[in-house]
Amino acid sequence: MKWQSFDSYEALSAHAARLFIEAIRENPAIVLGLPTGRTPVGMYERVVNECTCRQIVTFNLDEYVGISCDHPGSYCTYMQQHLFSRIDIDPANVHIPDGTASDLEAECAHYERQITQSGGLDLTFLGLGQNGHIGFNEPGTPFESRTRVVELTKSTRLANAAHFADGHVPSHAITMGIGTILESKRIVLLASGESKRDAIARLRGRGITPEFPASALHGHGDVIVLVA
Ligand code: GLP
Repeated sequence: MKWQSFDSYEALSAHAARLFIEAIRENPAIVLGLPTGRTPVGMYERVVNECTCRQIVTFNLDEYVGISCDHPGSYCTYMQQHLFSRIDIDPANVHIPDGTASDLEAECAHYERQITQSGGLDLTFLGLGQNGHIGFNEPGTPFESRTRVVELTKSTRLANAAHFADGHVPSHAITMGIGTILESKRIVLLASGESKRDAIARLRGRGITPEFPASALHGHGDVIVLVA
């Protein structure tokens, strides 16, 4: 695991955007795993207008259950706002789990199949939950887990309440599993701000336990952690 520290969120975002753009220039048909949350917003802002994204294929890490794509709090809306509506990506190459599917288990299996059929994730960007979650893999998640429906912890729902006008954060989500994420050839994790201090310190500590999901990344050979 390589660590890079930055003086500011802006500097972290600029570097993350550089990694994003360089990866697309090297492989215009790259398969990307993409995060949501506040942290990657600066990276997405800086990617816009920098390269053609015509052939890239994307898989988002997660989506809330029971929330449709046009709901303001959905990750689908987030991705449209921050990235997809601002780049020339082919909509057919965008994948976000469908939290409104009538058969959620089938949707999760389908998502895994789509990742495999696309050749697997080349590069996945991750955020970091205050409790160490990656995607929506909460503490206790087995490292071999695959895409599935999960129940969100109270702290995660609280942390994400701002995205729901009525404060009512869904109780469940679909998330790529830790096993799914670990199969990505390269991983870049972004963590910024006071609220992430403890989680960053714990990740630096190198203890590996399912009680701290991000620690699974110590078992991967190509991870860069960008911290500000
Ligand atoms: C949510 C997302 C995660 C993200 C985390 C951190 O829980 N499901 O993928 O990493 O939030 O978000 P933020 O960057 O807003 O702190």
